[in-house]
Amino acid sequence: MLDARTATAQPAAIRREDYRPPEWLIPSIALEFDLGAERTIVRARLSVERNGAEQAPLRLNGEGLSLIEVMVNGAPADHIYSENILTVEGVNSGDTVETIVEIAPAANTQLMGLYASGGILCTQCEAEGFRRITFFPDRPDVLSRYAVRMIADKALYPVLLANGDPVGSGDLEHGRHWAEWNDPFPKPCYLFALVAGDLEANRDTFITQSGRTVDLGIWVRTEDLPKTDHAMAALKASMAWDEKVYGREYDLAVFNIVAVSDFNFGAMENKGLNIFNSRYILADPDTATDADYDAIAGVVAHEYFHNWSGNRVTCRDWFQLSLKEGFTVFRDQQFSADQGSAAVKRIEDVRALRAIQFPEDAGPLAHPIRPESYIEISNFYTATIYDKGAEIIRMMRTILGADGFRAGTDLYFQRHDGEAATCEDFVKAMEDANGADLSRFRLWYAQAGTPRVMADLRHDEASCRAHLLLEQAVPPTPDQPDKQPVPVPLKIALFGEMTGEKYADRLIVLEEQAQEIVFDGIGERPILSINRDFSAPVIVEAARSSEDLAFLSANDDNPFARYEAMQQLMLDTIIAAIRSGAADHGPVIEAVRQTLSGTALDPAFVGEAALLPSEAFIGDQMETVDPDAIHRAREALRADLGTELESLWRAAYARNAANRFEYSPAAKGARRLRTIALGYLMASGGADVPALAMRQFGEADNMTDRQGALGVLVNSDAAERDDALAAFYKRYQGNALVIDKWFGVQALSTRSDTGEVVQALARHPDFTLANPNRLRALVGSFAANQRALHAPDGSGYRFLADMIIAVDRLNPQTAARLVPPLGRWRRFDASRADKMKRELMRILAEQGLSKDVFEQASKSLG
Ligand code: TRP
Ligand code: ZN
Repeated sequence: MLDARTATAQPAAIRREDYRPPEWLIPSIALEFDLGAERTIVRARLSVERNGAEQAPLRLNGEGLSLIEVMVNGAPADHIYSENILTVEGVNSGDTVETIVEIAPAANTQLMGLYASGGILCTQCEAEGFRRITFFPDRPDVLSRYAVRMIADKALYPVLLANGDPVGSGDLEHGRHWAEWNDPFPKPCYLFALVAGDLEANRDTFITQSGRTVDLGIWVRTEDLPKTDHAMAALKASMAWDEKVYGREYDLAVFNIVAVSDFNFGAMENKGLNIFNSRYILADPDTATDADYDAIAGVVAHEYFHNWSGNRVTCRDWFQLSLKEGFTVFRDQQFSADQGSAAVKRIEDVRALRAIQFPEDAGPLAHPIRPESYIEISNFYTATIYDKGAEIIRMMRTILGADGFRAGTDLYFQRHDGEAATCEDFVKAMEDANGADLSRFRLWYAQAGTPRVMADLRHDEASCRAHLLLEQAVPPTPDQPDKQPVPVPLKIALFGEMTGEKYADRLIVLEEQAQEIVFDGIGERPILSINRDFSAPVIVEAARSSEDLAFLSANDDNPFARYEAMQQLMLDTIIAAIRSGAADHGPVIEAVRQTLSGTALDPAFVGEAALLPSEAFIGDQMETVDPDAIHRAREALRADLGTELESLWRAAYARNAANRFEYSPAAKGARRLRTIALGYLMASGGADVPALAMRQFGEADNMTDRQGALGVLVNSDAAERDDALAAFYKRYQGNALVIDKWFGVQALSTRSDTGEVVQALARHPDFTLANPNRLRALVGSFAANQRALHAPDGSGYRFLADMIIAVDRLNPQTAARLVPPLGRWRRFDASRADKMKRELMRILAEQGLSKDVFEQASKSLG
């Protein structure tokens, strides 16, 4: 059998400009699976039609398939299977091409194609996994009607699911059975799915706006059934929301979700049969945090929304990936904002964007949301495609207004329903529905790099005028040395320093490289509030004093801007401390005191506002990142905040205690603030605090409070730390998703021994490279822990590289996602940079390296 890892040393790049329409179309396909974990036989019957005049032979993708037979119209056919392409000779339009192959799901450690997860057989085909199941033109612009027949052992696999509607099932001899499913909607093969397993469903129904009944099922192992109610509620809420907000109705009679434990990403939007990483389905108060509950609702919504933005209208080629992902992330963000606090949701989304996408856009792997080339498409499921993509959709809505945007999406769906579309089609629909000109806006699709906006506000008292000078610069990125200015929608307000009066509140679209805006009738010095709601994904540089930032953090009527002012004040203070060895913590302490005493504020917001910027984000502001200095300066500010505001933290801690668990925005906010207060109390060094944390840990009736207390203890030297870790492990042993938390919380610890602890945990019997969740919990968390990863002796880099090399042999896609932290070497001192480069070179010297890791490591080296 051909192994994907025997790829050549220098895999070729695929370029967007080389796109050509397919030579053949496959209007329909009939698939027959004789399922077994060790051995599965796949018989595929393709109806083929020539597309265009060229007399090209039929070429089908296939990877790691044991070919048994090729037939055309029932007769054996001449063929060549070489370099992952099956070429069939003598095929004419209208013929039926049949292949029979054998595959081995249990041996599939890549988790792409058909694989086994804890006794369940399931598929993952996006982006190019279908070619690991059968021979097919594996590209998203070939849309086919699917008929699927599955045969399997009834005891091992009593449930057989596929896309679309069930059309029949029955028993066979020898304890076997069969089931057939038909999907009436033509789809690209990346949306194909099947599942076979011993599963049970949480069933419900949804009545669509036109009155059709949809049977809903969330399929899990029997013991997990009690943990599916939250996901089901989220699914029904998503279906109703998409009707209300986008006018999009579900189109099949059945919608199924299956949860599996081994999954490369979060979830997959296969038509009518979503497959999920179990961490985005299973929840109950004892095992899932509020953040888990929120993520479940967000991912369920995301995959459901893909039914229109992704499935009914799909992508022409993988360079258009952001067409479905950016838009769908934007839709799930809007949905989540509507479920609770929109301001807190925006703060969380922007924090994630800055933590992952900004560094990506500033480093060697920077790419536009519509890339020009790739070696391995799996490497382009990035924060840029997803999250910057969502910001770009959001900006169009900000510029066109809510109604104009809706008119644009209506036109887009109407024009392209059933088609494989491009990003250009989306922008064109926005333009045509609004009579707008977005020609310059298109640069956001083409240019990488986070734009910088410099804002300078001047006031002339005599004329009662304020002048705002805005300038922008888009930084150079790999392959893009010169950039053009982009339209930047900036929500701006001016507040009077003396009266607090709001003088202006408006949207300015900065179109040029530089632009001056004049505000009249301003009799006192104005304070600038800019990029309110984070209206553009840019870095704003505006020289504002700590007094002005403190004013905004207390008085701005835009909650996001308020949070932002506090963050800026904290950042300025920490950076000043790093530069000069010490800084005046007073303004931050006063600003946090104000926020904590603001009784009218939502506790969830107060919690977010009181959080210090992460060590990594502080590092992003520095010419050369100094992890130890950052850690010291940040901890010093934490300690002062804890000590100076101790009574307020104690009051917040007491005030936000609950009697009984409840999942509501108010209860979530109280839990969030309570654990943040506990963290500051720990930083204050209060002698009773470890015991307080231990009490919260022991008495908690929910995972948010329990894990919150554990997270605080794990950063400390208190004796209670080890007791809590041991108790947590004992209580949840055997629950994979919670044991992931146990690994993760230790890998994220700010203590100086985290590197050694993580290396020891990699030898723990519960650790495995084969399960992506477990790997991400330990190694992914460690790689995100700036201080631990960047240990001066290079031990963190060595460990990470060892893990990448080991995982690459099993699961290249997952291994490649661990590479980017090593690619940040340019940002560190020479000693660290040198050690990081050496590890990248060591990785590249590996025999049989996957093209996934090859691409990320070679680009990272630069
Ligand atoms: N389309 C999926 C989503 O965003 C992402 C995804 C799931 C994926 N599994 C994958 C992408 C495997 C690449 C490979 O909803
Ligand atoms: Zn998606």
